[in-house]
Amino acid sequence: MTITLRRTQPVDANALPAIERSAAALFRTDPSLAWLADTPVTDARQHLHAIETQDIWVAELPEGVLAGFLSAEQVDNQLHIQELSVSQHFQGQGIGRKLLLAAIEYSRERELDGLTLTTFRDLPWNAPFYQRWGFETLSPNETSPRLLAILRKEIDHGLPEERRCAMWLRLL
Ligand SMILES: CC(C)(COP(=O)(O)OP(=O)(O)OC[C@H]1O[C@@H](n2cnc3c(N)ncnc32)[C@H](O)[C@@H]1OP(=O)(O)O)[C@@H](O)C(=O)NCCC(=O)NCCS
Repeated sequence: MTITLRRTQPVDANALPAIERSAAALFRTDPSLAWLADTPVTDARQHLHAIETQDIWVAELPEGVLAGFLSAEQVDNQLHIQELSVSQHFQGQGIGRKLLLAAIEYSRERELDGLTLTTFRDLPWNAPFYQRWGFETLSPNETSPRLLAILRKEIDHGLPEERRCAMWLRLL
């Protein structure tokens, strides 16, 4: 399968909500997180704004079908990964890895200090996946106020506190 990674264009905004919704179906494999598969996703209007102001990459198949995306925002001298989603049908084929690598390479090129994200500690396609790319799990003492605020918002949204963590990949 030939996959092209590229920066998102405004015309892609309409396709991104369906990708996020499809990707989230994976949470149904964990009964206590199954509800996440039915929560509202970022809508096309919000994606359009993000495309104009943030960093988003898409994975595109030859026929122009979009299989996944990674959205991120540069804060200070770090790139914060907000969302990484691959449509259910295309999962497990290395697309997530390619998208993550694109964000890491971009951050290296821009000489950023590193990348941050929040994720589930124990889902095999979350923290363990990022760990294999060199991301470290931050202890509460090491977690910046910015990341603590994101974790707090997620917990207020209903995510289980004991299963969430912030991670950091140091580049410089
Ligand atoms: C996370 C996600 C984007 C990965 O995309 P993907 O294209 O399936 O990922 P890849 O095929 O590149 O695999 C990435 C790693 O995750 C692991 N993985 C992927 N799907 C998995 C599954 N269903 N069960 C166990 N491990 C899985 C792979 O083993 C792989 O590890 P490796 O790189 O050490 O070999 C995708 O699973 C997804 O959309 N999940 C739902 C949303 C989500 O959890 N996003 C991340 C938020 S922090």
